Amino acid sequence: MKLLVTGGAGFIGSNFIHYILEKYPQDKVINLDALTYAGNLENLKDVEENPNYQFVHGDIMDSLLLDELMGDIDVVVHFAAESHVDRSILDSGSFVRTNVNGTLNLLEIAKNSGKKRFHHISTDEVFGSLGKNDSAFNEKTPYDPRSPYSASKASSDHLVRSYYHTHQLPITISNCSNNYGPYQFPEKLIPFFITSLMEGKKLPIYGTGENIRDWLHVKDHCDAIDRIIRHGKIGETYCIGGGAEKTNLEITHKILELMGFDEDNIEYVPDRKGHDKRYAVDFTKMTRELGWKPAISFEDGIKDTVEWYKQNAQWLDTIKSGKYIEYGRDYRNDKHRRIA
Ligand code: NAD
Ligand code: DAU
Repeated sequence: MKLLVTGGAGFIGSNFIHYILEKYPQDKVINLDALTYAGNLENLKDVEENPNYQFVHGDIMDSLLLDELMGDIDVVVHFAAESHVDRSILDSGSFVRTNVNGTLNLLEIAKNSGKKRFHHISTDEVFGSLGKNDSAFNEKTPYDPRSPYSASKASSDHLVRSYYHTHQLPITISNCSNNYGPYQFPEKLIPFFITSLMEGKKLPIYGTGENIRDWLHVKDHCDAIDRIIRHGKIGETYCIGGGAEKTNLEITHKILELMGFDEDNIEYVPDRKGHDKRYAVDFTKMTRELGWKPAISFEDGIKDTVEWYKQNAQWLDTIKSGKYIEYGRDYRNDKHRRIA
């Protein structure tokens, strides 16, 4: 298989590229990434020399570049996005540009390049916010996005589905819950809190800390995506979840315990605007149709994750010092922009 992965220098995309290159030594991967603040080529340093891997620096809004890249691609796996809810509250425009217009552009080129197989990575946040006793989200849950981020992702999901119905583009969509694991940019809850403790900083909990998320190890997410692109039914949506609902306070206490700190390191700060109360995902369809369920328990996954960040202080330092941007800059030249 030859895959065009968009946003492969980000957290989930880079884990997915590692996953594919390890599991399928014959597969070829092109990673198209604009290297925004969230794109980090350090995540892929160990596969740089792999002849089956190629990085292309570029934007999913660049139609000419996309046209060139689509050529003999078998499947587009679309991760590229603005992904952080807090940033979407401060600057919604960039979310619409990449998540909505960028996805539309990618769909259009995929359609015009012989209707490429297209898998769209989306989020459980498009379904809105659950009450404590509500049933978990599933593939039939109506859309009810409540942040500029989730609204932009919901729009992109609708566009992807519209290309299936209107143009018969062979698409699938997955809506996944909160991921954690290696290479996650330290702005998201788990890596932010681990790395804050490493730096002797307090942990800012929004509001009361009672909001609930359903946590999934990123490797399990990669396994789920892999099954969908190879065996998923065209036109279908798949919900992916971790079966591990935790309040933010539970997560915080776990991290404090694993790192040998106490509650004095918690600081309660004003709540996020429009803060969704609870997410939970029913992944029955993934299990029934594709034989998938999470393999990594939260207990094991969080332990390994804390350890990974402790062992990879240098990776963290390149982010905190801004050196990772310099590293990416070396790639912003013609040699890497176009396939020879
Ligand atoms: P991330 O922010 O870590 O990475 C996003 C990547 O996209 C970066 O490498 C960035 O440089 C790239 N990018 C941004 N704009 C681009 C553009 N215009 N053109 C090309 N590349 C661009 O994100 P992530 O956490 O890895 O999430 C990946 C996808 O998974 C997103 O679509 C997100 O909505 C979805 N998702 C994330 C989670 C989660 O918990 N992180 C859960 C469910 C779904
Ligand atoms: O549900 C899937 C989504 O999960 C993905 O689509 C998003 O891309 C991803 O960012 C994530 O969104 P969340 O808003 O749930 O993740 P975040 O890590 O930003 O926050 C998790 C919870 O922790 C949320 O309730 C807000 C809270 N929080 C977060 C930060 C960064 C804090 O209390 N303090 C913090 O400093």
